[in-house]
Amino acid sequence: MAVVFITTGCDRRGPDGEQVDPREKIVIKFSHVVAEDTPKGQAARRFARLVQERTGGRVEVQVFPNSVLYKDGEEMDALQQGAVQIIAPTTSKLSCLAPQWQLLDLPYLFENEEQVHQALDGEIGKKLFATLEPHNIHPLAFWDNGFKQMTNSKRPLVHPRDFAGLTFRVMINSQVLEEQFRSLGANATQMPFSDVYGALSRNQVDGQENTMSNIYSQRFYQVQPYMTVSNHGYMGYVVLTNATFWRSLPPDIREIIEKTLAEVTWWEREQAARLNDKNFRQIKESGKVHVHIQTEGERAEWQAALEPLYQKFRPIIGAELLDEAFRLKG
Ligand code: LMR
Repeated sequence: MAVVFITTGCDRRGPDGEQVDPREKIVIKFSHVVAEDTPKGQAARRFARLVQERTGGRVEVQVFPNSVLYKDGEEMDALQQGAVQIIAPTTSKLSCLAPQWQLLDLPYLFENEEQVHQALDGEIGKKLFATLEPHNIHPLAFWDNGFKQMTNSKRPLVHPRDFAGLTFRVMINSQVLEEQFRSLGANATQMPFSDVYGALSRNQVDGQENTMSNIYSQRFYQVQPYMTVSNHGYMGYVVLTNATFWRSLPPDIREIIEKTLAEVTWWEREQAARLNDKNFRQIKESGKVHVHIQTEGERAEWQAALEPLYQKFRPIIGAELLDEAFRLKG
Protein backbone atom coordinates (compact mmCIF):
# COMPACT_ATOMS: atom_id res chain seq x y z
CA MET A 1 0.00 0.00 0.00
CA ALA A 2 1.40 3.42 -0.89
CA VAL A 3 1.94 5.69 2.13
CA VAL A 4 0.67 9.23 1.72
CA PHE A 5 1.73 11.89 4.18
CA ILE A 6 -0.20 15.06 4.74
CA THR A 7 2.22 17.88 5.45
CA THR A 8 1.37 21.22 7.04
CA GLY A 9 4.30 22.94 8.76
CA CYS A 10 5.44 20.57 11.48
CA ASP A 11 2.39 18.39 10.98
CA ARG A 12 2.95 15.21 9.00
CA ARG A 13 0.40 12.42 9.19
CA GLY A 14 0.57 8.83 8.07
CA PRO A 15 -2.35 6.73 6.88
CA ASP A 16 -4.85 4.95 9.12
CA GLY A 17 -3.43 1.87 10.84
CA GLU A 18 -4.85 -1.57 11.28
CA GLN A 19 -5.55 -3.38 14.52
CA VAL A 20 -2.47 -5.08 15.97
CA ASP A 21 -2.67 -8.90 15.95
CA PRO A 22 -3.50 -9.79 19.60
CA ARG A 23 -0.68 -12.36 19.72
CA GLU A 24 1.96 -10.09 18.27
CA LYS A 25 4.65 -8.53 20.47
CA ILE A 26 4.25 -4.76 20.58
CA VAL A 27 7.33 -2.55 20.52
CA ILE A 28 6.94 1.07 21.59
CA LYS A 29 9.84 3.39 20.84
CA PHE A 30 9.91 6.29 23.30
CA SER A 31 12.26 9.02 22.11
CA HIS A 32 13.30 12.06 24.14
CA VAL A 33 16.03 14.70 24.19
CA VAL A 34 17.21 14.90 27.81
CA ALA A 35 19.67 12.93 29.94
CA GLU A 36 18.57 9.75 31.73
CA ASP A 37 19.16 11.29 35.14
CA THR A 38 16.39 13.89 34.78
CA PRO A 39 12.71 13.77 35.72
CA LYS A 40 11.67 12.87 32.16
CA GLY A 41 14.53 10.42 31.68
CA GLN A 42 13.80 8.56 34.91
CA ALA A 43 10.04 8.52 34.38
CA ALA A 44 10.39 7.16 30.84
CA ARG A 45 12.45 4.26 32.15
CA ARG A 46 10.07 3.57 35.03
CA PHE A 47 7.12 3.59 32.63
CA ALA A 48 8.96 1.16 30.31
CA ARG A 49 9.77 -1.26 33.13
CA LEU A 50 6.24 -1.22 34.58
CA VAL A 51 4.50 -1.68 31.23
CA GLN A 52 6.76 -4.58 30.36
CA GLU A 53 6.06 -6.22 33.76
CA ARG A 54 2.32 -5.61 33.65
CA THR A 55 1.85 -6.95 30.14
CA GLY A 56 3.98 -10.03 30.88
CA GLY A 57 6.53 -8.88 28.30
CA ARG A 58 3.97 -8.50 25.54
CA VAL A 59 4.74 -4.82 25.26
CA GLU A 60 8.34 -3.71 25.14
CA VAL A 61 8.98 0.01 25.58
CA GLN A 62 12.40 0.98 24.25
CA VAL A 63 13.58 4.32 25.59
CA PHE A 64 15.97 6.46 23.52
CA PRO A 65 17.26 9.44 25.58
CA ASN A 66 19.60 12.34 24.76
CA SER A 67 18.33 12.98 21.18
CA VAL A 68 20.05 9.75 20.05
CA LEU A 69 17.17 8.98 17.67
CA TYR A 70 15.62 12.37 16.98
CA LYS A 71 16.36 15.98 17.96
CA ASP A 72 13.87 18.67 18.82
CA GLY A 73 12.15 19.59 15.62
CA GLU A 74 12.52 16.05 14.27
CA GLU A 75 10.71 14.05 16.94
CA MET A 76 7.23 15.39 16.11
CA ASP A 77 7.63 14.32 12.47
CA ALA A 78 8.93 10.95 13.62
CA LEU A 79 5.85 10.50 15.82
CA GLN A 80 3.41 11.50 13.10
CA GLN A 81 5.06 9.20 10.59
CA GLY A 82 5.04 6.29 13.03
CA ALA A 83 8.85 6.00 13.27
CA VAL A 84 8.46 6.30 17.07
CA GLN A 85 5.34 5.73 19.14
CA ILE A 86 5.85 8.03 22.16
CA ILE A 87 7.60 11.36 22.64
CA ALA A 88 7.42 13.84 25.54
CA PRO A 89 8.41 17.30 24.27
CA THR A 90 8.14 20.46 26.31
CA THR A 91 4.74 22.07 25.86
CA SER A 92 6.48 25.05 24.17
CA LYS A 93 7.47 22.85 21.25
CA LEU A 94 3.82 22.15 20.39
CA SER A 95 3.23 25.76 19.43
CA CYS A 96 3.93 24.89 15.80
CA LEU A 97 0.83 22.67 15.81
CA ALA A 98 -1.40 24.93 17.89
CA PRO A 99 -0.31 28.39 19.08
CA GLN A 100 -2.53 28.10 22.18
CA TRP A 101 0.20 26.03 23.83
CA GLN A 102 2.22 29.23 24.25
CA LEU A 103 -0.03 30.07 27.17
CA LEU A 104 2.27 27.95 29.32
CA ASP A 105 5.33 29.94 28.18
CA LEU A 106 4.03 33.27 29.47
CA PRO A 107 6.44 34.51 32.13
CA TYR A 108 5.13 34.70 35.69
CA LEU A 109 1.82 33.12 34.71
CA PHE A 110 2.01 30.61 37.57
CA GLU A 111 3.34 31.13 41.08
CA ASN A 112 4.02 27.50 41.94
CA GLU A 113 3.58 23.88 40.86
CA GLU A 114 0.16 23.59 42.56
CA GLN A 115 -1.25 26.27 40.26
CA VAL A 116 0.35 24.59 37.26
CA HIS A 117 -1.20 21.22 38.17
CA GLN A 118 -4.61 22.78 38.72
CA ALA A 119 -4.41 24.25 35.23
CA LEU A 120 -3.07 21.17 33.46
CA ASP A 121 -5.30 18.67 35.25
CA GLY A 122 -8.35 20.90 34.73
CA GLU A 123 -10.03 22.87 31.96
CA ILE A 124 -6.83 24.33 30.51
CA GLY A 125 -5.28 20.89 30.06
CA LYS A 126 -8.48 19.60 28.42
CA LYS A 127 -8.62 22.51 25.98
CA LEU A 128 -4.96 22.13 25.07
CA PHE A 129 -5.30 18.39 24.55
CA ALA A 130 -8.24 19.02 22.19
CA THR A 131 -6.02 21.09 19.88
CA LEU A 132 -4.00 17.95 19.01
CA GLU A 133 -6.87 15.87 17.69
CA PRO A 134 -6.72 17.22 14.11
CA HIS A 135 -3.01 16.40 14.00
CA ASN A 136 -3.47 12.68 14.59
CA ILE A 137 -1.78 12.98 17.97
CA HIS A 138 -3.20 11.40 21.09
CA PRO A 139 -2.05 13.13 24.31
CA LEU A 140 -1.50 10.87 27.31
CA ALA A 141 -0.18 12.92 30.24
CA PHE A 142 1.42 16.10 31.50
CA TRP A 143 4.78 15.67 33.19
CA ASP A 144 6.67 18.32 35.13
CA ASN A 145 10.12 19.59 34.82
CA GLY A 146 9.84 22.75 36.90
CA PHE A 147 10.44 26.48 36.87
CA LYS A 148 13.16 28.00 34.71
CA GLN A 149 16.20 29.96 35.83
CA MET A 150 18.39 32.30 33.78
CA THR A 151 22.07 31.58 33.15
CA ASN A 152 24.65 33.55 31.16
CA SER A 153 28.35 34.03 30.66
CA LYS A 154 28.62 37.81 31.00
CA ARG A 155 27.12 39.30 34.17
CA PRO A 156 24.64 38.87 37.04
CA LEU A 157 21.07 39.42 35.77
CA VAL A 158 19.44 41.44 38.51
CA HIS A 159 17.45 44.18 36.74
CA PRO A 160 15.86 44.10 33.27
CA ARG A 161 18.56 46.49 32.01
CA ASP A 162 21.19 43.80 32.65
CA PHE A 163 19.84 41.85 29.66
CA ALA A 164 20.71 44.61 27.19
CA GLY A 165 22.59 43.35 24.14
CA LEU A 166 22.90 39.71 25.30
CA THR A 167 21.77 36.82 23.11
CA PHE A 168 19.83 33.91 24.63
CA ARG A 169 19.03 30.50 23.26
CA VAL A 170 15.30 29.72 23.38
CA MET A 171 13.42 26.49 22.76
CA ILE A 172 12.18 25.92 19.22
CA ASN A 173 8.71 26.99 18.05
CA SER A 174 7.65 29.45 20.75
CA GLN A 175 7.23 33.09 19.78
CA VAL A 176 6.40 33.95 23.39
CA LEU A 177 9.85 32.88 24.51
CA GLU A 178 11.54 34.95 21.79
CA GLU A 179 9.40 37.95 22.70
CA GLN A 180 10.16 37.48 26.40
CA PHE A 181 13.86 38.13 25.78
CA ARG A 182 13.19 40.99 23.36
CA SER A 183 11.02 42.67 25.99
CA LEU A 184 13.99 42.50 28.34
CA GLY A 185 16.24 44.15 25.74
CA ALA A 186 18.05 40.96 24.69
CA ASN A 187 18.13 38.91 21.47
CA ALA A 188 16.77 35.40 21.15
CA THR A 189 17.85 32.47 18.97
CA GLN A 190 15.82 29.27 18.63
CA MET A 191 17.96 26.15 18.90
CA PRO A 192 17.45 22.43 19.50
CA PHE A 193 18.32 21.26 22.99
CA SER A 194 21.15 18.99 21.82
CA ASP A 195 23.04 21.98 20.37
CA VAL A 196 22.86 24.20 23.45
CA TYR A 197 25.96 23.09 25.36
CA GLY A 198 28.15 23.50 22.25
CA ALA A 199 26.71 26.94 21.49
CA LEU A 200 27.25 28.11 25.07
CA SER A 201 30.77 26.76 25.32
CA ARG A 202 31.76 28.39 22.01
CA ASN A 203 30.10 31.67 23.06
CA GLN A 204 27.76 31.59 20.06
CA VAL A 205 25.07 32.66 22.49
CA ASP A 206 25.54 34.35 25.86
CA GLY A 207 22.87 32.62 27.88
CA GLN A 208 19.81 30.42 28.15
CA GLU A 209 16.87 29.66 30.44
CA ASN A 210 16.23 26.22 31.86
CA THR A 211 15.37 24.15 34.90
CA MET A 212 17.96 23.12 37.49
CA SER A 213 17.92 19.49 36.34
CA ASN A 214 18.66 20.44 32.73
CA ILE A 215 21.29 23.03 33.74
CA TYR A 216 23.01 20.38 35.82
CA SER A 217 22.65 17.27 33.64
CA GLN A 218 23.70 19.10 30.44
CA ARG A 219 26.66 20.75 32.28
CA PHE A 220 25.48 24.23 31.28
CA TYR A 221 26.63 25.42 34.73
CA GLN A 222 30.23 24.62 33.78
CA VAL A 223 30.21 27.22 31.00
CA GLN A 224 27.70 29.74 32.41
CA PRO A 225 29.22 31.48 35.43
CA TYR A 226 26.08 33.52 36.30
CA MET A 227 22.71 32.16 37.34
CA THR A 228 19.66 34.07 38.52
CA VAL A 229 17.09 32.03 40.40
CA SER A 230 14.09 33.78 38.92
CA ASN A 231 11.50 30.99 38.57
CA HIS A 232 10.07 33.22 35.85
CA GLY A 233 8.46 30.55 33.72
CA TYR A 234 7.27 26.99 33.86
CA MET A 235 8.69 24.16 31.74
CA GLY A 236 6.72 20.95 31.49
CA TYR A 237 6.15 18.08 29.13
CA VAL A 238 3.28 16.49 27.33
CA VAL A 239 3.49 12.75 26.71
CA LEU A 240 2.19 12.06 23.22
CA THR A 241 1.46 9.06 21.09
CA ASN A 242 0.46 8.65 17.46
CA ALA A 243 -3.37 8.44 17.33
CA THR A 244 -3.37 5.83 14.56
CA PHE A 245 -0.99 3.66 16.55
CA TRP A 246 -3.06 4.19 19.70
CA ARG A 247 -6.26 3.08 18.01
CA SER A 248 -4.49 -0.02 16.68
CA LEU A 249 -3.67 -1.27 20.19
CA PRO A 250 -5.90 -3.88 21.87
CA PRO A 251 -8.14 -2.24 24.52
CA ASP A 252 -6.55 -4.18 27.43
CA ILE A 253 -3.10 -2.90 26.44
CA ARG A 254 -4.37 0.66 26.16
CA GLU A 255 -5.82 0.36 29.65
CA ILE A 256 -2.54 -0.90 31.14
CA ILE A 257 -0.63 1.92 29.45
CA GLU A 258 -3.10 4.56 30.66
CA LYS A 259 -3.14 3.30 34.26
CA THR A 260 0.62 2.96 34.37
CA LEU A 261 1.11 6.45 32.97
CA ALA A 262 -1.25 7.94 35.53
CA GLU A 263 0.76 6.34 38.31
CA VAL A 264 4.13 7.30 36.78
CA THR A 265 2.88 10.87 36.34
CA TRP A 266 2.44 11.31 40.11
CA TRP A 267 5.84 9.78 40.73
CA GLU A 268 7.42 11.96 38.03
CA ARG A 269 6.04 15.17 39.48
CA GLU A 270 7.48 14.40 42.93
CA GLN A 271 10.74 13.32 41.39
CA ALA A 272 10.99 16.56 39.38
CA ALA A 273 10.73 18.66 42.54
CA ARG A 274 13.29 16.47 44.35
CA LEU A 275 15.77 16.48 41.46
CA ASN A 276 15.56 20.22 40.91
CA ASP A 277 16.39 20.80 44.62
CA LYS A 278 19.23 18.30 44.55
CA ASN A 279 20.69 19.65 41.31
CA PHE A 280 20.51 23.23 42.62
CA ARG A 281 22.61 22.15 45.63
CA GLN A 282 25.09 20.44 43.32
CA ILE A 283 25.38 23.53 41.10
CA LYS A 284 26.09 25.71 44.16
CA GLU A 285 28.58 23.21 45.57
CA SER A 286 30.47 23.11 42.26
CA GLY A 287 31.72 26.61 43.06
CA LYS A 288 31.53 27.42 39.35
CA VAL A 289 28.47 29.64 39.40
CA HIS A 290 27.70 33.00 40.94
CA VAL A 291 24.10 32.49 42.07
CA HIS A 292 21.74 35.42 42.49
CA ILE A 293 18.38 34.78 44.12
CA GLN A 294 15.83 37.22 42.79
CA THR A 295 14.20 39.43 45.44
CA GLU A 296 10.49 40.34 45.51
CA GLY A 297 11.32 43.86 44.30
CA GLU A 298 13.38 42.58 41.38
CA ARG A 299 10.65 40.12 40.49
CA ALA A 300 8.23 43.07 40.28
CA GLU A 301 10.64 44.89 37.93
CA TRP A 302 10.92 41.88 35.61
CA GLN A 303 7.16 41.40 35.68
CA ALA A 304 6.56 45.01 34.71
CA ALA A 305 8.95 44.68 31.73
CA LEU A 306 7.23 41.48 30.61
CA GLU A 307 3.62 42.54 31.19
CA PRO A 308 3.03 43.70 27.54
CA LEU A 309 3.41 40.07 26.39
CA TYR A 310 0.01 39.25 27.87
CA GLN A 311 -1.79 41.76 25.63
CA LYS A 312 0.31 40.96 22.61
CA PHE A 313 -0.39 37.22 22.72
CA ARG A 314 -4.02 37.40 23.88
CA PRO A 315 -5.41 37.11 20.32
CA ILE A 316 -3.01 34.25 19.52
CA ILE A 317 -3.51 32.20 22.67
CA GLY A 318 -7.17 33.08 23.07
CA ALA A 319 -9.00 35.02 25.77
CA GLU A 320 -10.69 31.91 27.14
CA LEU A 321 -7.46 30.14 28.07
CA LEU A 322 -5.83 33.28 29.42
CA ASP A 323 -8.82 34.22 31.54
CA GLU A 324 -9.04 30.71 32.95
CA ALA A 325 -5.36 30.93 33.95
CA PHE A 326 -5.94 34.29 35.66
CA ARG A 327 -8.93 32.84 37.50
CA LEU A 328 -6.72 30.09 38.93
CA LYS A 329 -4.15 32.66 40.02
CA GLY A 330 -6.86 34.33 42.07
C1 LMR B 1 14.98 22.50 26.22
O1 LMR B 1 14.92 22.41 25.00
O2 LMR B 1 15.61 23.38 26.82
C2 LMR B 1 14.19 21.50 27.02
O3 LMR B 1 12.97 21.50 26.45
C3 LMR B 1 14.65 20.12 26.92
C4 LMR B 1 13.70 19.20 27.65
O4 LMR B 1 13.03 18.40 27.01
O5 LMR B 1 13.67 19.32 28.89
